[in-house]
Amino acid sequence: MVSITIKNLTKKYGKVTAVKDLNLQIKDKEFFVFLGPSGCGKTTTLFAVAGLIKVDTGEIWIGDDLVTSAEKGIFRPPQERGISMVFQDYAIYPHMNVYENIAFPLRIMKMNNLEIAQAVKKTAKLLGIAQFLDRKPRQLSGGQRQRVALGRAIVRTPKIFLMDEPLANLDAKLRVQTRTDLKRLQMNLGVTTICVTHDQVEAMVMADRIMVQRDGVVEQVGTPNELYNSPANQFVAGFVGSPEMNFIESNLIKQDKTLRLNAKGFTVCLPGEMRSKLEGHVGGEVIMGIRPDDLHENPCAVGAEPENVFRMMLELIEPVGPQLILHVKVGDVPLVAAVKDTKTRVGEGIPIEIDPKKVHVFDKKTGKSLI
Ligand SMILES: Nc1ncnc2c1ncn2[C@@H]1O[C@H](COP(=O)(O)OP(=O)(O)O)[C@@H](O)[C@H]1O
Ligand SMILES: [Mg+2]
Repeated sequence: MVSITIKNLTKKYGKVTAVKDLNLQIKDKEFFVFLGPSGCGKTTTLFAVAGLIKVDTGEIWIGDDLVTSAEKGIFRPPQERGISMVFQDYAIYPHMNVYENIAFPLRIMKMNNLEIAQAVKKTAKLLGIAQFLDRKPRQLSGGQRQRVALGRAIVRTPKIFLMDEPLANLDAKLRVQTRTDLKRLQMNLGVTTICVTHDQVEAMVMADRIMVQRDGVVEQVGTPNELYNSPANQFVAGFVGSPEMNFIESNLIKQDKTLRLNAKGFTVCLPGEMRSKLEGHVGGEVIMGIRPDDLHENPCAVGAEPENVFRMMLELIEPVGPQLILHVKVGDVPLVAAVKDTKTRVGEGIPIEIDPKKVHVFDKKTGKSLI
Protein backbone atom coordinates (compact mmCIF):
# COMPACT_ATOMS: atom_id res chain seq x y z
CA MET A 1 0.00 0.00 0.00
CA VAL A 2 1.66 3.22 -1.12
CA SER A 3 -0.69 6.06 -0.35
CA ILE A 4 0.61 9.62 0.02
CA THR A 5 -0.73 11.92 2.71
CA ILE A 6 0.03 15.62 2.92
CA LYS A 7 -1.04 17.58 5.99
CA ASN A 8 -0.99 21.38 6.43
CA LEU A 9 1.90 21.85 4.03
CA THR A 10 3.22 25.37 3.61
CA LYS A 11 6.29 26.41 1.63
CA LYS A 12 7.49 30.00 1.34
CA TYR A 13 10.22 31.48 -0.80
CA GLY A 14 10.95 34.81 0.87
CA LYS A 15 7.72 36.76 0.58
CA VAL A 16 6.14 34.36 -1.93
CA THR A 17 3.95 31.62 -0.45
CA ALA A 18 4.36 28.92 -3.09
CA VAL A 19 2.10 26.42 -1.26
CA LYS A 20 -0.33 27.39 1.46
CA ASP A 21 -1.72 24.97 4.04
CA LEU A 22 -2.21 22.11 1.59
CA ASN A 23 -4.03 18.94 2.66
CA LEU A 24 -4.28 15.97 0.34
CA GLN A 25 -4.61 12.21 0.32
CA ILE A 26 -3.48 10.21 -2.70
CA LYS A 27 -4.59 6.59 -2.85
CA ASP A 28 -2.53 3.48 -3.53
CA LYS A 29 -1.97 2.93 -7.29
CA GLU A 30 -3.72 6.17 -8.16
CA PHE A 31 -2.72 8.26 -11.18
CA PHE A 32 -2.94 11.69 -9.59
CA VAL A 33 -2.40 14.98 -11.44
CA PHE A 34 -1.50 18.42 -10.08
CA LEU A 35 -3.09 20.92 -12.47
CA GLY A 36 -2.94 24.70 -12.57
CA PRO A 37 -1.46 27.72 -14.33
CA SER A 38 2.26 28.42 -14.26
CA GLY A 39 3.49 29.53 -10.85
CA CYS A 40 0.58 28.06 -8.85
CA GLY A 41 2.79 25.75 -6.76
CA LYS A 42 2.63 22.40 -8.57
CA THR A 43 6.35 21.77 -8.80
CA THR A 44 6.90 22.96 -5.24
CA THR A 45 4.33 20.44 -3.98
CA LEU A 46 5.87 17.66 -6.07
CA PHE A 47 9.40 18.52 -4.90
CA ALA A 48 8.21 18.44 -1.31
CA VAL A 49 6.90 14.89 -1.83
CA ALA A 50 10.15 13.92 -3.56
CA GLY A 51 12.24 15.30 -0.72
CA LEU A 52 13.99 17.80 -2.99
CA ILE A 53 12.95 20.73 -0.79
CA LYS A 54 12.27 21.30 2.89
CA VAL A 55 8.97 22.90 3.90
CA ASP A 56 7.95 25.51 6.46
CA THR A 57 5.03 23.66 8.03
CA GLY A 58 3.31 20.33 7.71
CA GLU A 59 3.83 16.62 7.22
CA ILE A 60 4.20 14.23 4.33
CA TRP A 61 3.54 10.51 4.71
CA ILE A 62 4.45 7.87 2.13
CA GLY A 63 2.47 4.83 3.19
CA ASP A 64 3.11 4.49 6.92
CA ASP A 65 6.41 6.39 6.79
CA LEU A 66 6.56 9.96 7.97
CA VAL A 67 9.10 11.31 5.47
CA THR A 68 8.76 15.04 6.13
CA SER A 69 7.70 16.85 9.28
CA ALA A 70 8.64 20.47 9.72
CA GLU A 71 7.37 20.40 13.29
CA LYS A 72 9.19 17.22 14.33
CA GLY A 73 12.33 18.05 12.35
CA ILE A 74 12.02 14.93 10.20
CA PHE A 75 13.36 14.97 6.64
CA ARG A 76 14.16 11.82 4.70
CA PRO A 77 16.33 12.43 1.62
CA PRO A 78 14.95 11.45 -1.82
CA GLN A 79 16.87 8.17 -2.00
CA GLU A 80 15.11 6.95 1.16
CA ARG A 81 11.62 7.67 -0.17
CA GLY A 82 11.38 4.98 -2.87
CA ILE A 83 10.55 7.55 -5.51
CA SER A 84 11.52 7.88 -9.14
CA MET A 85 11.19 11.13 -10.95
CA VAL A 86 11.03 12.40 -14.52
CA PHE A 87 11.76 16.09 -14.96
CA GLN A 88 10.54 18.44 -17.64
CA ASP A 89 13.92 18.52 -19.39
CA TYR A 90 14.35 14.74 -18.79
CA ALA A 91 18.12 15.05 -18.48
CA ILE A 92 19.50 11.79 -19.84
CA TYR A 93 23.23 11.25 -20.09
CA PRO A 94 24.41 12.22 -23.61
CA HIS A 95 27.59 10.12 -23.51
CA MET A 96 25.78 6.90 -22.55
CA ASN A 97 23.77 4.78 -24.95
CA VAL A 98 20.13 3.97 -24.26
CA TYR A 99 20.99 0.71 -22.52
CA GLU A 100 23.38 2.37 -20.08
CA ASN A 101 21.01 5.27 -19.45
CA ILE A 102 18.25 2.90 -18.41
CA ALA A 103 20.68 0.67 -16.51
CA PHE A 104 22.15 3.58 -14.56
CA PRO A 105 19.96 3.39 -11.40
CA LEU A 106 20.51 -0.38 -11.24
CA ARG A 107 24.30 0.01 -11.45
CA ILE A 108 24.12 2.42 -8.51
CA MET A 109 22.18 -0.28 -6.64
CA LYS A 110 25.05 -2.67 -7.54
CA MET A 111 22.72 -5.14 -9.21
CA ASN A 112 24.52 -7.90 -11.13
CA ASN A 113 24.91 -7.71 -14.92
CA LEU A 114 22.50 -10.51 -15.73
CA GLU A 115 19.70 -8.99 -13.68
CA ILE A 116 20.43 -5.58 -15.17
CA ALA A 117 20.22 -6.96 -18.69
CA GLN A 118 16.87 -8.57 -17.95
CA ALA A 119 15.42 -5.44 -16.34
CA VAL A 120 16.65 -3.09 -19.07
CA LYS A 121 15.32 -5.29 -21.86
CA LYS A 122 11.95 -5.70 -20.18
CA THR A 123 11.62 -1.96 -19.62
CA ALA A 124 12.78 -1.04 -23.12
CA LYS A 125 10.27 -3.47 -24.59
CA LEU A 126 7.47 -2.02 -22.47
CA LEU A 127 8.30 1.45 -23.80
CA GLY A 128 8.83 0.40 -27.42
CA ILE A 129 12.50 1.38 -27.55
CA ALA A 130 14.10 -2.09 -27.51
CA GLN A 131 15.54 -1.55 -30.99
CA PHE A 132 17.46 1.57 -29.91
CA LEU A 133 19.47 0.19 -26.99
CA ASP A 134 22.81 0.81 -28.74
CA ARG A 135 22.06 4.38 -29.75
CA LYS A 136 23.24 7.56 -28.09
CA PRO A 137 20.56 10.13 -27.12
CA ARG A 138 21.54 12.47 -29.98
CA GLN A 139 20.58 9.71 -32.44
CA LEU A 140 17.03 9.64 -31.07
CA SER A 141 13.95 11.79 -31.63
CA GLY A 142 12.52 13.90 -28.79
CA GLY A 143 9.82 11.33 -28.14
CA GLN A 144 12.31 8.47 -27.99
CA ARG A 145 14.54 10.42 -25.60
CA GLN A 146 11.52 11.00 -23.42
CA ARG A 147 10.94 7.25 -23.31
CA VAL A 148 14.52 6.66 -22.26
CA ALA A 149 13.97 9.05 -19.34
CA LEU A 150 10.79 7.18 -18.45
CA GLY A 151 12.63 3.89 -18.73
CA ARG A 152 15.33 5.04 -16.34
CA ALA A 153 12.65 6.11 -13.88
CA ILE A 154 10.64 2.87 -13.91
CA VAL A 155 13.38 0.26 -14.37
CA ARG A 156 13.75 -0.36 -10.65
CA THR A 157 9.98 -0.34 -10.00
CA PRO A 158 9.69 2.62 -7.65
CA LYS A 159 7.17 2.85 -4.83
CA ILE A 160 6.10 6.19 -6.23
CA PHE A 161 6.48 7.64 -9.68
CA LEU A 162 6.72 11.44 -9.96
CA MET A 163 6.62 13.40 -13.21
CA ASP A 164 6.98 17.16 -13.67
CA GLU A 165 5.49 18.31 -17.00
CA PRO A 166 6.85 15.17 -18.69
CA LEU A 167 5.30 16.00 -22.06
CA ALA A 168 6.19 19.69 -22.22
CA ASN A 169 9.10 19.28 -24.63
CA LEU A 170 7.27 17.13 -27.16
CA ASP A 171 5.50 18.46 -30.25
CA ALA A 172 1.71 18.56 -30.21
CA LYS A 173 1.05 15.28 -32.01
CA LEU A 174 3.56 13.32 -29.99
CA ARG A 175 2.16 14.79 -26.78
CA VAL A 176 -1.26 13.38 -27.57
CA GLN A 177 0.16 9.94 -28.25
CA THR A 178 2.53 9.95 -25.29
CA ARG A 179 -0.13 10.90 -22.76
CA THR A 180 -2.10 7.82 -23.79
CA ASP A 181 1.07 5.73 -23.52
CA LEU A 182 1.76 7.15 -20.05
CA LYS A 183 -1.69 6.29 -18.85
CA ARG A 184 -1.37 2.75 -20.17
CA LEU A 185 2.10 2.41 -18.66
CA GLN A 186 0.87 3.58 -15.27
CA MET A 187 -2.03 1.11 -15.39
CA ASN A 188 0.35 -1.74 -16.23
CA LEU A 189 2.90 -0.79 -13.56
CA GLY A 190 0.27 -0.20 -10.88
CA VAL A 191 2.54 2.34 -9.19
CA THR A 192 1.13 5.32 -7.28
CA THR A 193 1.87 8.25 -9.59
CA ILE A 194 1.82 12.03 -9.41
CA CYS A 195 2.09 13.98 -12.64
CA VAL A 196 2.30 17.77 -12.89
CA THR A 197 0.83 19.61 -15.85
CA HIS A 198 -0.62 23.02 -16.75
CA ASP A 199 -2.58 21.43 -19.61
CA GLN A 200 -6.15 20.65 -18.60
CA VAL A 201 -6.77 18.21 -21.45
CA GLU A 202 -3.66 16.26 -20.50
CA ALA A 203 -4.84 16.15 -16.90
CA MET A 204 -8.36 15.09 -17.83
CA VAL A 205 -7.31 12.21 -20.08
CA MET A 206 -4.61 10.78 -17.81
CA ALA A 207 -5.76 11.26 -14.25
CA ASP A 208 -7.82 9.13 -11.91
CA ARG A 209 -8.09 12.29 -9.83
CA ILE A 210 -6.89 15.86 -10.18
CA MET A 211 -5.94 18.61 -7.75
CA VAL A 212 -6.46 22.09 -9.22
CA GLN A 213 -4.15 24.70 -7.70
CA ARG A 214 -4.07 28.48 -7.98
CA ASP A 215 -1.68 30.88 -6.26
CA GLY A 216 -0.52 28.21 -3.83
CA VAL A 217 -4.05 27.24 -2.81
CA VAL A 218 -6.08 24.11 -3.64
CA GLU A 219 -9.18 25.07 -5.59
CA GLN A 220 -10.66 21.57 -5.95
CA VAL A 221 -9.76 17.88 -5.81
CA GLY A 222 -11.84 15.46 -7.84
CA THR A 223 -12.17 13.04 -10.73
CA PRO A 224 -12.10 14.52 -14.24
CA ASN A 225 -15.87 14.07 -14.35
CA GLU A 226 -16.42 15.86 -11.06
CA LEU A 227 -14.29 18.81 -12.13
CA TYR A 228 -16.08 19.05 -15.45
CA ASN A 229 -19.65 18.55 -14.27
CA SER A 230 -19.51 19.98 -10.75
CA PRO A 231 -16.78 22.61 -10.59
CA ALA A 232 -16.52 24.02 -7.06
CA ASN A 233 -15.93 27.54 -8.28
CA GLN A 234 -15.64 29.77 -11.30
CA PHE A 235 -11.88 29.31 -11.55
CA VAL A 236 -12.11 25.53 -11.94
CA ALA A 237 -15.12 25.88 -14.25
CA GLY A 238 -13.11 28.18 -16.50
CA PHE A 239 -9.86 26.24 -16.35
CA VAL A 240 -11.30 22.83 -17.19
CA GLY A 241 -13.06 22.23 -20.51
CA SER A 242 -12.51 23.54 -24.01
CA PRO A 243 -13.89 25.76 -25.42
CA GLU A 244 -14.18 27.53 -22.10
CA MET A 245 -17.47 27.75 -20.20
CA ASN A 246 -19.51 30.89 -20.92
CA PHE A 247 -19.80 33.23 -17.94
CA ILE A 248 -22.63 35.74 -17.88
CA GLU A 249 -23.28 38.39 -15.24
CA SER A 250 -26.82 37.87 -13.97
CA ASN A 251 -29.27 38.60 -11.21
CA LEU A 252 -31.01 35.76 -9.44
CA ILE A 253 -34.70 36.58 -9.21
CA LYS A 254 -37.91 34.79 -8.30
CA GLN A 255 -40.96 35.26 -10.43
CA ASP A 256 -44.14 33.15 -10.54
CA LYS A 257 -42.54 30.78 -8.01
CA THR A 258 -39.73 30.07 -10.50
CA LEU A 259 -36.12 31.05 -9.96
CA ARG A 260 -34.68 32.88 -12.94
CA LEU A 261 -31.34 34.19 -14.00
CA ASN A 262 -31.76 37.62 -15.41
CA ALA A 263 -28.94 38.56 -17.79
CA LYS A 264 -28.67 41.58 -20.08
CA GLY A 265 -31.22 40.86 -22.77
CA PHE A 266 -32.43 37.40 -21.74
CA THR A 267 -33.71 35.40 -18.78
CA VAL A 268 -33.18 31.69 -18.07
CA CYS A 269 -35.77 29.76 -16.00
CA LEU A 270 -34.05 27.40 -13.61
CA PRO A 271 -35.33 23.89 -12.84
CA GLY A 272 -37.11 23.26 -9.54
CA GLU A 273 -34.30 20.99 -8.27
CA MET A 274 -32.01 23.99 -7.88
CA ARG A 275 -34.46 25.89 -5.71
CA SER A 276 -33.40 24.60 -2.29
CA LYS A 277 -29.76 25.55 -2.89
CA LEU A 278 -30.42 28.91 -4.53
CA GLU A 279 -33.42 30.25 -2.60
CA GLY A 280 -31.21 32.01 -0.06
CA HIS A 281 -29.45 33.96 -2.80
CA VAL A 282 -32.53 35.45 -4.49
CA GLY A 283 -31.91 39.13 -5.23
CA GLY A 284 -28.15 38.60 -5.42
CA GLU A 285 -25.67 39.24 -8.19
CA VAL A 286 -24.34 35.97 -9.59
CA ILE A 287 -22.41 34.61 -12.54
CA MET A 288 -24.28 32.20 -14.78
CA GLY A 289 -22.04 29.52 -16.26
CA ILE A 290 -22.98 27.41 -19.25
CA ARG A 291 -20.69 25.13 -21.27
CA PRO A 292 -20.67 25.57 -25.05
CA ASP A 293 -21.87 21.94 -25.35
CA ASP A 294 -24.98 22.81 -23.35
CA LEU A 295 -26.23 25.38 -25.85
CA HIS A 296 -28.43 23.47 -28.29
CA GLU A 297 -29.39 24.44 -31.77
CA ASN A 298 -32.61 22.82 -33.05
CA PRO A 299 -34.27 23.22 -29.66
CA CYS A 300 -37.49 21.55 -30.90
CA ALA A 301 -35.58 18.35 -31.55
CA VAL A 302 -34.29 18.19 -27.98
CA GLY A 303 -37.69 19.04 -26.48
CA ALA A 304 -36.61 22.37 -25.02
CA GLU A 305 -38.98 24.61 -23.05
CA PRO A 306 -39.66 27.59 -25.30
CA GLU A 307 -38.89 30.02 -22.48
CA ASN A 308 -35.23 28.93 -22.53
CA VAL A 309 -34.84 29.25 -26.28
CA PHE A 310 -33.38 32.49 -27.52
CA ARG A 311 -32.89 33.93 -30.94
CA MET A 312 -29.18 34.63 -31.22
CA MET A 313 -27.13 36.24 -33.95
CA LEU A 314 -24.52 34.01 -35.55
CA GLU A 315 -21.33 36.04 -35.91
CA LEU A 316 -18.59 33.52 -36.62
CA ILE A 317 -18.12 29.79 -37.20
CA GLU A 318 -14.93 27.90 -36.31
CA PRO A 319 -14.84 24.35 -37.67
CA VAL A 320 -12.73 22.10 -35.45
CA GLY A 321 -13.30 18.65 -36.91
CA PRO A 322 -16.08 16.88 -35.01
CA GLN A 323 -17.61 20.17 -33.84
CA LEU A 324 -18.48 23.60 -35.07
CA ILE A 325 -17.74 26.37 -32.63
CA LEU A 326 -20.40 29.05 -33.05
CA HIS A 327 -19.79 32.58 -31.82
CA VAL A 328 -23.23 34.04 -31.23
CA LYS A 329 -24.72 37.05 -29.56
CA VAL A 330 -27.92 37.25 -27.56
CA GLY A 331 -28.77 40.86 -26.89
CA ASP A 332 -25.37 42.33 -26.12
CA VAL A 333 -24.02 39.15 -24.57
CA PRO A 334 -21.49 37.14 -26.61
CA LEU A 335 -21.69 33.36 -26.18
CA VAL A 336 -19.88 30.37 -27.59
CA ALA A 337 -21.80 27.24 -28.60
CA ALA A 338 -20.42 23.90 -29.74
CA VAL A 339 -22.67 22.01 -32.17
CA LYS A 340 -22.33 19.08 -34.55
CA ASP A 341 -23.60 20.92 -37.58
CA THR A 342 -25.60 23.96 -38.62
CA LYS A 343 -27.46 25.20 -41.67
CA THR A 344 -27.52 28.76 -40.38
CA ARG A 345 -25.11 31.18 -42.00
CA VAL A 346 -23.04 33.91 -40.49
CA GLY A 347 -25.15 37.06 -40.12
CA GLU A 348 -28.41 35.14 -39.67
CA GLY A 349 -30.48 34.60 -36.56
CA ILE A 350 -30.32 31.17 -34.91
CA PRO A 351 -32.62 29.75 -32.21
CA ILE A 352 -30.59 28.25 -29.39
CA GLU A 353 -31.65 26.64 -26.14
CA ILE A 354 -29.69 27.30 -22.95
CA ASP A 355 -30.09 23.93 -21.23
CA PRO A 356 -31.31 24.99 -17.78
CA LYS A 357 -30.36 21.70 -16.12
CA LYS A 358 -26.75 22.34 -17.13
CA VAL A 359 -26.55 25.90 -15.88
CA HIS A 360 -23.98 26.67 -13.16
CA VAL A 361 -24.46 29.53 -10.75
CA PHE A 362 -21.47 31.18 -9.07
CA ASP A 363 -21.38 33.79 -6.34
CA LYS A 364 -20.18 36.97 -8.02
CA LYS A 365 -17.95 38.01 -5.11
CA THR A 366 -16.38 34.71 -4.03
CA GLY A 367 -16.67 32.75 -7.28
CA LYS A 368 -17.99 29.76 -5.29
CA SER A 369 -20.53 27.50 -6.94
CA LEU A 370 -23.95 27.90 -5.37
CA ILE A 371 -25.37 24.62 -6.68
N1 LIG B 1 13.60 28.39 -5.78
C1 LIG B 1 12.70 29.36 -5.75
N2 LIG B 1 12.99 30.58 -5.26
C2 LIG B 1 12.07 31.55 -5.22
N3 LIG B 1 10.81 31.42 -5.62
C3 LIG B 1 10.43 30.24 -6.15
C4 LIG B 1 11.36 29.14 -6.22
N4 LIG B 1 10.70 28.08 -6.76
C5 LIG B 1 9.43 28.50 -7.00
N5 LIG B 1 9.27 29.78 -6.61
C6 LIG B 1 8.02 30.55 -6.71
O1 LIG B 1 7.00 29.81 -6.07
C7 LIG B 1 5.79 29.87 -6.81
C8 LIG B 1 5.37 28.47 -7.21
O2 LIG B 1 6.30 27.95 -8.12
P1 LIG B 1 6.20 26.50 -8.74
O3 LIG B 1 5.88 25.52 -7.68
O4 LIG B 1 7.43 26.26 -9.53
O5 LIG B 1 4.94 26.66 -9.71
P2 LIG B 1 4.43 25.73 -10.92
O6 LIG B 1 5.21 24.48 -10.94
O7 LIG B 1 2.98 25.54 -10.64
O8 LIG B 1 4.62 26.55 -12.16
C9 LIG B 1 6.07 30.81 -7.97
O9 LIG B 1 5.65 32.08 -7.62
C10 LIG B 1 7.56 30.72 -8.13
O10 LIG B 1 8.06 31.92 -8.69
MG1 LIG C 1 6.44 23.71 -12.47
